Amino acid sequence: MVSKDSNQIRRMFDAVALRYDCVNRLVSMRRDVAWRRAMVAALPEKPDLRVLDLATGTGDVAMALQYPNSPVGHVVGADVSMGMLQLAQRKMAGRACAATTTLVQTDAAALCCRDNAFDALTIAFGVRNFTDLDAGLREMCRVLHPNGRALILEFSLPTSRMIRVPYLLYFRHVLPVIAGLISRQTAAYRYLNRSVEDFPYGSSFCALLKQAGFTDVRAHPLTFGVATLYIAHKPDSPTPA
Ligand SMILES: C[S@@+](CC[C@H](N)C(=O)[O-])C[C@H]1O[C@@H](n2cnc3c(N)ncnc32)[C@H](O)[C@@H]1O
Repeated sequence: MVSKDSNQIRRMFDAVALRYDCVNRLVSMRRDVAWRRAMVAALPEKPDLRVLDLATGTGDVAMALQYPNSPVGHVVGADVSMGMLQLAQRKMAGRACAATTTLVQTDAAALCCRDNAFDALTIAFGVRNFTDLDAGLREMCRVLHPNGRALILEFSLPTSRMIRVPYLLYFRHVLPVIAGLISRQTAAYRYLNRSVEDFPYGSSFCALLKQAGFTDVRAHPLTFGVATLYIAHKPDSPTPA
């Protein structure tokens, strides 16, 4: 089991922030961009959406949400790492999305947001890092408007043995070396594969989402199951305990 301490997680992301995007593109062979696009395409079809992009990191999802003529009206990008948020702010500077994005430092386990404040919530590669996963998922449900939609993108493991074996070889032995050389933060990229292999995915993660109060939960594997997009909804009226 990977032990997670919130200060350690925050410091780790502060340390990788500068090279984070470059490493992502390289080690995922740009699949990360396609996965975020798939998540954005699953937004509700309603104008002027208020969206919380939790664990926004360097802002890739917050920016992808605001393509020309997108239904998104305002994005709050929330993250626990100031280093990552500063990068997001730098990337958005001078772009139209800077005027419609608010960046805030907050922990997923105790979000500084009102109940029912958002029509949709996105989170890419964030939930796996939560120190208190149950609290984080409950907070995600709390801040969504009834009928609101949560889109959760997270790494998973391919179910086919033919894909899984070579993938794990790459993930455990090649990726940390390449990412470590570029970022000079090898430990962070050793944490990546251990945290992914430890984290529930598919039906197990869907069960956790339901426990946290979500309904109509579905899992959509992407790229042979290397990542999964989960779509979940806040019920219209509270589910009885
Ligand atoms: C792997 S990065 C993903 C960033 C971005 N969403 C993306 O698609 O590239 C994970 C992010 O989650 C943030 N994070 C980890 N634990 C968190 C928590 N408890 N609350 C808020 N953010 C957290 C980290 O600071 C980091 O920026």
